[in-house]
Parts: sequence; structure tokens; C-alpha cells
Amino acid sequence: MRQSSLVVVANRLPVDDNIAPDGACEWRRSPGGLVSALHTILEHTTATWVGWSGTAGPAPELPDIGGISMRPVPLTDDDFAHYYEGFANSTLWPLYHDAVEQPTYHRSWWDAYQRVNQHFAEATAEVAAENAVVWVQDYHLQLVPALLREMRPDLLIGFFMHVPFPPPELFMQLPRRAELLRGLLGADLVGFQRAQAAHNFAQLCTKVLGLPATDRRIAVGERFVRTGAFPVSIDVAEMEALSGRPDVQARARQIRTDLGDPKHVLLSVDRLDYTKGIEHRLKAYSELLEDGLVKVRDTVMVQVAVPSRERVEHYAILRDRVEREVGRINGEFGRVGEPAIHYLNQQFDRSELAALYQAADVMVVTPLRDGMNLVAKEYVAARMDGGGVLVLSEFAGAADELDRAFLVNPHDLEGLKRSLIDAIDCPKAERAERMGAMRTHLRDHDIRDWARDYLTALENTGTLADRLTA
Ligand code: G6P
Repeated sequence: MRQSSLVVVANRLPVDDNIAPDGACEWRRSPGGLVSALHTILEHTTATWVGWSGTAGPAPELPDIGGISMRPVPLTDDDFAHYYEGFANSTLWPLYHDAVEQPTYHRSWWDAYQRVNQHFAEATAEVAAENAVVWVQDYHLQLVPALLREMRPDLLIGFFMHVPFPPPELFMQLPRRAELLRGLLGADLVGFQRAQAAHNFAQLCTKVLGLPATDRRIAVGERFVRTGAFPVSIDVAEMEALSGRPDVQARARQIRTDLGDPKHVLLSVDRLDYTKGIEHRLKAYSELLEDGLVKVRDTVMVQVAVPSRERVEHYAILRDRVEREVGRINGEFGRVGEPAIHYLNQQFDRSELAALYQAADVMVVTPLRDGMNLVAKEYVAARMDGGGVLVLSEFAGAADELDRAFLVNPHDLEGLKRSLIDAIDCPKAERAERMGAMRTHLRDHDIRDWARDYLTALENTGTLADRLTA
């Protein structure tokens, strides 16, 4: 087996299975920042990505993707139900997002989480070369750092949490809170999206495990574990290239025509998830229609809701509620051939998304809690014309950086309505000035900067350079 000096470990591999025209199944690189981010860094090294292919059952044979070798970890139907849908997405996901839905605790889910984390750690130990750097991603794999350190003390181990990390009052609900913290503390560096999350983590290490901790480092016996904020970003150049394509620009014009050439197009793009604030947004929009502040012929709202985790109960309930509400709003305020809201519950490819971003005058991103929200950053990157206005929840990690957006508290219905109107009415010069400032920030903080900053910080905890060239 090939051994690598850099190993990325994430629940998902960066691949999608795609049915070719002749009916054969082929694997393609999935669109997503992490692979492109790592690509430039990985070019001069041998790298392996450890992860799940996305379907339960035996592990598929996978080709290398962009020179990175793929090491699939299979999940059984039981793992899928109890580790992925259960502990990861019905316990941790709601708890880490402010418990906006009630987290569920089942002992059998915890057993599955431990078991699957053990499989990921074993697969990683197999492919990691002596002294390799291992970078573990996200809430699915919080036990992997400690399991791996136990098996392979020679490794330099990083962990990055893409989702929020909750305050002690919420985290303390977890029946196995001490084990989860000990799992993370197996890493040399535990990175978060926001400084507040690193603070929560340090506080919990003291409160639950009695360890001396600051917001920068935690003392674990003889070792120090570093922590801090590393806000993730997108591949700005990729989005700019896509948006500059003449066919994408033509498609953006066609979308506006298809929408009936309204004065204002509002757009939201979310996974259909209860953390995204879709219901709050629909309520605000419905009230604006009712108050007559927004008129159907002038203004159109497009809500893209990408299907997600569909067998999990909270997601199925949300879909019913959202679809009923969209139906009600269209029934009440639409006209023949002129719905108030265009609702699309489907996957979109990258070029269609780029066209939608360009067609939208106002992008409405109003999650109740979100680790970062890359859609907000994609919209800014796509607006090379300097047009467009972003309405952004202050509860998204992106709000720390994109502070020239119209920032809103999505729970404050009146404030949300006011911000939507302010965004619609925002004068051209002000739009350009706000968008320009946000674009400048993004260009200096793209996904490559993120990966480099993180790996440099990891290096400062050990000897990364020696290891990568070994
Ligand atoms: C969030 C998580 C990712 C996850 C993604 C999609 O962004 O931080 O780790 O991959 O949602 O969710 P899914 O359950 O489809 O992987």
C-alpha cells in the first residue's frame, strides 16, 4: 500500500458517482473547496484522502483524483443509520447549532460513532508514512485524533471543525462529553471557524477535564494542544473563472428573462436544513407581500433548497413545512405565470449556480447558526461586476469577515424585513462600494490562504516541513 506524507481524513471523499451516458458508473471529483485548496499544497507531496464514498455497502475501487490517492472507508447500513444519521446528524449537528432542533441521545448511536471513528483511525494509520502530517476534518470524526495518536505517536495531527462549537451550557448535555473532548485533544492543533468557538473549547477542557487552558493552548500532561480560529474560504479564482464564462453570463440573462424580467430578483441557496432559517425568511417575505412593500410583478424570490439527509426526521418535517408555506404564499400572492417564490428542491451544478448568483440583485443568507456559510462567499466572488447586495445573518461565521453585507438577526422579523427592503433599495454606488470591499477581503483570504495558514500553525507545533519532504 502506498504511504503518504500528508493524509486528509474527512467523513466524505471528494468524489461523486456519476452515471455516464452508456450507463456505466464513473467517479468524478466533487465540486468543493477542500480538494482544490489542498491541490496546490499537495502537488509536491504524496497525499491520501481517507473518507466514505457516500453510499452504504462495500468500498468502491476509486481512481486517484488530481494526484491524490483515495482510501475509502466503507459504512454498513447500520453505520449509516447510527453513526451518520444518528450520532453525527441527530445528536451533534443540532447540539452544535444552538440546539435549534432538539438533539437526540441514544447509547447505540454512541457505540456506532466510536466504532466508525476507530475504522477511520485504522485506515489512516495504514496509509500514513512515518512522521506524516494528518489533517482530520469536522464533527463526524472527533475521536480520531486521540485514537490515532495512540496507534501512531510519530504523526503530527491536526483537527479542523467546520461547524460551530457550542458554549459549555449546551455541550454539557452530551452524555459522553469527556470522551469527545479527549478525542479532540489527541490533535496537536484544534482549529475552529471563529475565535468564540476556540474559547468555548478551552473553557470546556478546564470545566470537564480540569486542564489548564487559555484560548490559544491547553496543557495535556507533558504536551500542549494549540487552538485558534482559521475561517475557511472558497476557491475565489475558480468562481471568478466560472462567472466570467460567456455561456454562464448568457445563462444569467436567460434566467432573468425566464423570471419575467422583474425589477428585483432575490435569491437564497441552502441545503434544506433547519439551521438555515428558511422558514423565518419565508415568513418575512410573506409579510412584505402582505404589507404591499414588495409586489409580485416587480420582485421575484428564488429559493434553491438542495435535498439533504432526507431520512432524518427533522429534515423530512422541515421539507413538508417549507413546501406547504411556499404553496400558501404562491397561492395567496401569485398570479397565473407569476409565482411569488420559485422553489427548487434539487441539486445544482456549479455553472448554473454561478449564473443564478449573477442574476440575483439580492442574495439572502440568513441561517440561525452556521459554521461559516460558503454560499455567501461564493456570491461575493461571483459578482465581478460589483453589482448585487448581500443580506447576511450575524450568526453565520462569514459575518465576521463580510461585514459590509446587510447584517441581520434572523429571529428579529421586523429587522429582517427592514434589511430586505434596504437591500432592494440600496443605491448602485453603495452596492459597488460594499461589494468591492468584500471582494478585496475575499481575494486576500481564499481557500489556499486558509489551508496555508492552518498548516503553518500546525508546523509551528512540530516540524511540518521536514515531514512533508521526508
Ligand atoms: C456541512 C458539514 C460538512 C458536510 C456538509 C454536507 O457543511 O460541515 O462536513 O459534508 O454539511 O452534509 P452531508 O451530510 O451531506 O455530508
